[in-house]
Amino acid sequence: MDLGLSGKVALVTGASAGLGYASARALAAEGAAVMICSRDYGRITESALEIGRSTGVEPLPLECDLTDEAGIELLVRKVVDEFNRIDILVSNAGGPPGGPFSSISAEQWDQAYNLTFRSTLHLCRNVLPIMEAQQEGSIVVITSIASKQPIPGLVTSNALRAGLNGLIKSIANEYGPMGIRANTVAPGYTLTERLDELAEEISGREGRSKEDIFEGWTANTPLKRLGQPEEIGAAVAFLASERAAFITGQHLAVDGGSITGTMG
Ligand SMILES: NC(=O)c1ccc[n+]([C@@H]2O[C@H](COP(=O)([O-])OP(=O)(O)OC[C@H]3O[C@@H](n4cnc5c(N)ncnc54)[C@H](OP(=O)(O)O)[C@@H]3O)[C@@H](O)[C@H]2O)c1
Repeated sequence: MDLGLSGKVALVTGASAGLGYASARALAAEGAAVMICSRDYGRITESALEIGRSTGVEPLPLECDLTDEAGIELLVRKVVDEFNRIDILVSNAGGPPGGPFSSISAEQWDQAYNLTFRSTLHLCRNVLPIMEAQQEGSIVVITSIASKQPIPGLVTSNALRAGLNGLIKSIANEYGPMGIRANTVAPGYTLTERLDELAEEISGREGRSKEDIFEGWTANTPLKRLGQPEEIGAAVAFLASERAAFITGQHLAVDGGSITGTMG
């Protein structure tokens, strides 16, 4: 199936590794012009080269800390200066601090809000006027299954990701008449650096081995395996694409069946 992404201009944030990288790679493989960012210029440049080597389309790498509002404004301006438009925004960053409610400080709540909610909010505030002028555009936010089903010990993610679902649904409702779609992809347990860090954190807190934690996640997934980043990237590319032209305001779990309720 041709996703119709050839020649589209995409901005993918938090793309030096993991799910952002896999999403950027999927879009580049479909022929989109991609701009990618992370906090580390060396790392994001290496990722751009890798994507270029494997797809033949080399993304433009940029340094940006998504917790910095001015940095986001500059990032979006650079995409427009380079390509004159933005067809696709994939909003993604690292995960917020983990732990149960009783363990999270006020400072950690602020950090979590800045990284997980405010970054998407400001990306949308800067990108939507451009998409509105074009009368087309597609936003995909990478969230988590925590947005639909709270995960024990991940209270910041549970709270902020449910809020993101409300934000993206509201944007879908308000901007649909302007030809702009907005959706989220909610990954389940997927093999990235973040998952390894999460296992390390839980292991320290609960005194269980990392192997035991990974086995528990696998056992609780109906497909009896963890996800691969490419499987998230494929869902992001589809939702961003022309083939999903009638899909907006949706929160697509890509989780091997981990959300077991009927709203999953
Ligand atoms: N992996 C999973 O199983 C899973 C499941 C559900 C939800 N998620 C969520 O999906 C998102 C991506 O997860 P992942 O597993 O791909 O994480 P990851 O492997 O830790 O990668 C995170 C990416 O975001 C970048 N980043 C982090 N903080 C940033 C900041 N302040 N500004 C700009 N870039 C930043 C990192 O690049 P630099 O370090 O180079 O800046 C890196 O490229 C996270 O929100 C995570 O919580 C993951």
